[in-house]
Amino acid sequence: MRRGVIYSLLRPALFRIDAEKAHGLALKALKHAPTSRPPAFAPSLATRVAGIDFANPVGMAAGFDKDGEVPDALLGLGFGFAEVGSITPLPQSGNPKPRLFRLVEDRAVINRMGFNNGGAQAAVDRLEARLGRPGVVGINIGANKDSPDRVADYATMARLMAPLAGYLAVNISSPNTPGLRALQDESALTGLLDAVIEARGAVCGEDGPPIFLKVAPDLEPADVDAISRIAMDRKLGALIVSNTTISRPPLSSPHAGESGGLSGAPLRDLAQQRLRDFRKATGGAMPLVGVGGIATAEDAWARIRAGASLVQLYSAMVYEGPGIAKAIAKGLERLMKRDGFATVAEAVGTE
Ligand SMILES: Cc1cc2nc3c(=O)[nH]c(=O)nc-3n(C[C@H](O)[C@H](O)[C@H](O)COP(=O)(O)O)c2cc1C
Repeated sequence: MRRGVIYSLLRPALFRIDAEKAHGLALKALKHAPTSRPPAFAPSLATRVAGIDFANPVGMAAGFDKDGEVPDALLGLGFGFAEVGSITPLPQSGNPKPRLFRLVEDRAVINRMGFNNGGAQAAVDRLEARLGRPGVVGINIGANKDSPDRVADYATMARLMAPLAGYLAVNISSPNTPGLRALQDESALTGLLDAVIEARGAVCGEDGPPIFLKVAPDLEPADVDAISRIAMDRKLGALIVSNTTISRPPLSSPHAGESGGLSGAPLRDLAQQRLRDFRKATGGAMPLVGVGGIATAEDAWARIRAGASLVQLYSAMVYEGPGIAKAIAKGLERLMKRDGFATVAEAVGTE
């Protein structure tokens, strides 16, 4: 039986379990699944972004595998890359439970996890052990909630993780760590990126992994312009657009009133519009990773045509199950053929 069919049978039972417990079960299942090598994809899906070769442009977004426990299992499911994290220097437990909610009627999720993770050292040990395996693993870094010096936290994380990462994703856009998103402000961002770049250089010299910056969808046009300018000036590898939103488009689920970041279908149009804004502000000079509400090949294709060189998803896997990466990659191959594109790169920003 195909994965999608099995998942649609299992889903009602899974959805009766508390969302965070169900997520724990999914991680456990992936941890104990026999490790398979990443599947092969059509050459038309292969793409090179920020000097990295991706077998296909569909990645797992940060937050699913916060501790870097199952990147190879995710690659084995057909994701073209897996972003682990956010990881902070010290372990932290995050916000009180419940803090993760399925909004089934809206095909959405609200979370206020608050960077729960096992800390840098445990992740380093795990990620070191997988070095040399095929596939791109990005490492998403964050700061501890109670840190007296958040910039120093990001620098520490860059130093520890640069030797292990396909790319480093600097996450300053989680709505669940108070004050974190203020790091997106111009002067704070410059200082932060300089510290991260210096830390990467100190351990990797010229050969360090590219730095991706993950931004919020809740930004004003002036923020978009300033972030774009700084990203280009500091020669970042890519901007990841976007994290969850603190805004609340119309929702019908009973959990609609929960506080935290909203993701999934109701984020789709906002994230796509913000991606267009960044495409315009960067003039196509900076690769963009499109994320937010992508659930189908058509969604992924629209994001690529709007300017994304790569896409990511998380919430849709909750609703569609573990076959989603392969299904979207296959669908993309078909849509590229239909529209007459031989490579993903050719289609980026052509809407
Ligand atoms: C439960 C949950 C936890 C998340 N944790 C993180 C995180 O630790 N770091 C991060 O950068 N993004 C995190 N995200 C945001 C996702 O990476 C993604 O940007 C967002 O969910 C939008 O994509 P989606 O609509 O496909 O889920 C999290 C999302 C969810 C649903």
